[in-house]
Amino acid sequence: MKITEIERDAVYKTIFSRRDVRSDFTKQTVPDDVIKRILTAAHHAPSVGFMQPWDFIVVNDIEAKKQIKQGFDEANAESKQMFNDEQQSKYQQFKLEGILEAPLGICVTCDRNRNGPVVLGKTIKAEMDLYSSVCAVQNLWLAARAENLGVGWVSIIEDDILRDALGIPNNIEIIAYLCIGYVSKFKDKPELESAGWLPRRSVDKAIHYNKWSTENL
Ligand SMILES: Cc1cc2nc3c(=O)[nH]c(=O)nc-3n(C[C@H](O)[C@H](O)[C@H](O)COP(=O)(O)O)c2cc1C
Repeated sequence: MKITEIERDAVYKTIFSRRDVRSDFTKQTVPDDVIKRILTAAHHAPSVGFMQPWDFIVVNDIEAKKQIKQGFDEANAESKQMFNDEQQSKYQQFKLEGILEAPLGICVTCDRNRNGPVVLGKTIKAEMDLYSSVCAVQNLWLAARAENLGVGWVSIIEDDILRDALGIPNNIEIIAYLCIGYVSKFKDKPELESAGWLPRRSVDKAIHYNKWSTENL
């Protein structure tokens, strides 16, 4: 099956207009069939040895969300202290989660023991299962953008808070907690770029030919 030019352009448009979204969520309900579509897209991510180590916990329970938000607030207060004074004043202006505003949360996990102890492709680098689950997150993120849904990744939270709020056993790794919902707008650029936290690195500096090179760095 060949991808047409219009379809190709739609893929690039989706990639370049995807944003991490923490504000501007609307109250519009996300229909079940749309949730199913983005989760099915996530489920079609590549995975080492076709292990499919991920699971998805869809969260709309307000009590669970409040518990997660409280966990974020504590972790965020602790995290802020790790930056210097100048950075701290910028840091505290950032909104780094949309846990309560987003109609949905989705927690993506990784079962590192799925399909037994020896998995094709994971024999030398055991962490490939974790990377596979991250691929599922990216598929979800892009599919959501194609559905005009905003997604924000909340990583400033202790795993134990999510385990407790969502009943995740200790043998299951937590990969991501995502806030999802329709939004009034998507920003043109990453907020951290617009705020002058860090610039986008030029793609030419990221590309090396044949050997790692520090020339471009
Ligand atoms: C693994 C991962 C964890 C992230 N965790 C957070 C987070 O806890 N809070 C937050 O505001 N953004 C978080 N982000 C979003 C990044 O800040 C964002 O992707 C980056 O600034 C680029 O912006 P863009 O996604 O809009 O292109 C995370 C992104 C990734 C990939």
